[in-house]
Amino acid sequence: MIQITPLEKKQQKKLVTIWSITFLTLFPILITLGLLMRLNQGEEINLKANTFYALMTLHGLGMAGVLFSIAFAALWYLISTRYARLRVGVGYFVYFLILIGVVALTIATLIGKFGPGWYLLYPLPFIGTSWKPWSTGLSIISIIILGIAWLIGMLHLLYALAKAYGGITHLLGWQYLGKKEVQQDLPPIVLISTISLVPGVMAFLAGAVMLILYLLQYFEPSLTFDPLLLKNLTFFFGHTLVNITLYCGVGWVYALLPEFTGREWKTNKVVVYSWNATFFFILFAYFHHLYMDFVQPMPLHYAGQIASYLSAIPATAITMFGVIAQLYHSKIKWSVIPLMFLLGTAGWAIGGFAAVVDSTIAINKVLHNTLWVPAHFHTYMLMGIVLFIFAFLFYISSENKGYSTDIKTKLGFWIFVIGAYGFLTMFYLGGLNSVPRRYSDYKGIPIQSTHQTGVLLSQIAVVFIIVLLAGLLLMYISLFSKLLKKEDTVEMPVQA
Ligand code: HEM
Repeated sequence: MIQITPLEKKQQKKLVTIWSITFLTLFPILITLGLLMRLNQGEEINLKANTFYALMTLHGLGMAGVLFSIAFAALWYLISTRYARLRVGVGYFVYFLILIGVVALTIATLIGKFGPGWYLLYPLPFIGTSWKPWSTGLSIISIIILGIAWLIGMLHLLYALAKAYGGITHLLGWQYLGKKEVQQDLPPIVLISTISLVPGVMAFLAGAVMLILYLLQYFEPSLTFDPLLLKNLTFFFGHTLVNITLYCGVGWVYALLPEFTGREWKTNKVVVYSWNATFFFILFAYFHHLYMDFVQPMPLHYAGQIASYLSAIPATAITMFGVIAQLYHSKIKWSVIPLMFLLGTAGWAIGGFAAVVDSTIAINKVLHNTLWVPAHFHTYMLMGIVLFIFAFLFYISSENKGYSTDIKTKLGFWIFVIGAYGFLTMFYLGGLNSVPRRYSDYKGIPIQSTHQTGVLLSQIAVVFIIVLLAGLLLMYISLFSKLLKKEDTVEMPVQA
């Protein structure tokens, strides 16, 4: 633990509050884009195909970017106020750079109708496009700006942690594996931040190479690159980004849940082994996105399946065990914050299980590019990381003001959970019924039953999305009233 002055804490709090308000503004807008897509797939509205794909691209890139940004900002706040000194000026620089990137991307998609999907699959953005050519250039530049911002932030954080804990091997917890006594305790959040951010830096560097090649091709259309190489770079970048977003959130579960249960959650050998397995295997798990690419060398497909299992299972198992050990027979006071941690861990495990199922080659042959894919990643994002983020937001808005156990917040939370799982179930059922993903509507599907199932499931999903939005509204009311509340009535979260 570091000692920081009240002024430094106030400055870091202001930064994280600005981040939180930005997130709370953008999140429902991005959900509304999802609602429009489901309305179109349910044949309730009629969007032009190029509008649908522009919305889908903004929704996908926007959600992934906004969630990673707030997850990183939350980590920044917790690290800077407890474990290592971070320069608030760097934090603001990163924030404004990200804002520029987001505005540019919004212009490219909503005005320029840029719509190849989040993964900009090469050579899609350059051949026979339905969008304005300038929007391709603007999107590439805006993603480069976002990447630079995140890289600066991640490197600053890693550097500060390495300085505070004696180097990168200490951050990875390797001192716990030897016979010598450990001199300085390594908080699990620091270990997990390292496990997230080091692969994050590698992934962002791969993303930078990919985007520079895209930019070269944009300025010199006669150039061509190997599509397989670019697909590998794209998915290494995208897959890792989504995974580490979740791990950032898991990090603060380890740090904050003990404040509610009154039990310590310390780093030990098993925690180090499990998270180091994730650290190593996460780098190779993305190969499961390329099973359909017959030109990819066969051993990489097998490596993809094995790495998918080995990167997901140890970290999930040890965390679930840890959460149960924290909660079992504890005298916890069930405010919405630990509830969100508990259900967030469940969402991570459920979505993760569905992902591991899909990463199994024999099953992927059937489920590939069906709605099963958005089903699993929406589960661990919406019911995993989003719940962790809201837990964090309630936590910081309640610091020194007492942790909310009010009924409105809990009601909003449960309505949100019901809406979200209803919405997700429709994706899963779509996948099991072979409804394809990324179809703007299902009118062109020649098999009548698949068409009808796709439409019906979308219509039911719309109802659940509205329920989810209603729950979100209730949580927002409670969150903002907390944020605006001034008095300091400190209340301990754990009953003595
Ligand atoms: C209630 C909230 C949400 C709704 C209603 C929603 C809705 C949708 C829909 C309808 C699609 C298109 C599915 C298809 O037919 O292929 C989609 C795709 C996607 N969504 Fe969401 N979503 C939500 C939350 C999220 C969250 C939290 C994330 C976080 C990462 C996310 C990321 C994505 C991505 C990456 C895609 C794929 C875009 C692409 O293929 O390029 N969504 N979403």
